[in-house]
Amino acid sequence: MSPTSPDSLTIRRPDDWHVHLRDGAMLATVLPFTARQFARAIIMPNLADPVTTPEKAAAYRRRIVAHLPDEAPGDAFQPLMTCYLTDDTDPAQLEQGFLDGVFTAAKLYPAHATTGSAHGVTEPLALTAVYETMQILGMPLLVHGEVTDPAVDIFDREAVFIDGVLSKIVRDFPNLRVVLEHVTTRDGIDFVTSQSGPVGATITAHHLLLNRNALFEGGIRPHYYCLPVAKREEHRQALIAAATSGNEKFFLGTDTAPHPIGEKESACGCAGIFTAPAALALYAEAFEAAGALDKLEAFASLNGPKFYDLEVNQGTVTLERAETPVPERIDVPGVGAVHPFRGGANVAWKIKAT
Ligand code: NCD
Ligand code: ZN
Repeated sequence: MSPTSPDSLTIRRPDDWHVHLRDGAMLATVLPFTARQFARAIIMPNLADPVTTPEKAAAYRRRIVAHLPDEAPGDAFQPLMTCYLTDDTDPAQLEQGFLDGVFTAAKLYPAHATTGSAHGVTEPLALTAVYETMQILGMPLLVHGEVTDPAVDIFDREAVFIDGVLSKIVRDFPNLRVVLEHVTTRDGIDFVTSQSGPVGATITAHHLLLNRNALFEGGIRPHYYCLPVAKREEHRQALIAAATSGNEKFFLGTDTAPHPIGEKESACGCAGIFTAPAALALYAEAFEAAGALDKLEAFASLNGPKFYDLEVNQGTVTLERAETPVPERIDVPGVGAVHPFRGGANVAWKIKAT
């Protein structure tokens, strides 16, 4: 065991700041994977019936908690709920949900930008009363940062959103806490890094591990398709540099997004990659490949709580070097099955049982 390639790594228990848990049987199936690794998770609100009110969020939280496995180790798992912003979001209701401790944050989906965003915001620059309220409250705005104009090349949609929308929101609401979710480009990294205000970004494991070639390696690979779509290698390199820099603006958010296999392997496959089963091991692989395992704890366990103004977790997790198989498919009763990222192959780390 050398300092550069240890056989085990103990870090404070991490949090996942971007998770899609879905509902019903899918929720029951996927939740234990997240709860086993992470103490807290930001729960995305893009259900078929979007989570637009405190009542819906409280009811969804109860459904999540009801499905939690009893034996979750260490800190009890805590779902942190978000409000799905629409053109009709009432700032007063949003404020009440935040003050009551139901909403931790609000999610901005430009309408039709991604899976489950049909009820999203048609003109993101028009939500000024919502942003004003959130700025005063210190309530984080979580942004899916892509324009939806079909005339804009899909690989440019993040950069165009930053130029035309995000930079204006940040300029007009300089104290608003903003997270550029699942950042995929050098442009996004440079934007976040250059902000003096409270602007951060989550980075997924799959965007640290894949560039856009992976989507077409030997044929079309629907299980590598997500939004924002993976970009060129130079962008992946920028994400790795940011994640491993120690810069507090960057933190872990898997964007784990399960879809039934039949909806991925289709003539029009859904966007979303299901990384939860091996999430922490996947990040460890990416950090180790960059020679930066010693930076994993800051990214996974410290920077997120600092941004959200929450305590860091008390417990720890230990990753042990061990080739560990990821199941090829995981059955979802009554729904079908899901295929996890790396399913049918190994990850290089396993989480030590506690
Ligand atoms: C997410 C989903 O399936 O809910 N899909 C994805 O490709 N990331 C939605 C999202 O976060 O964009
Ligand atoms: Zn997402």
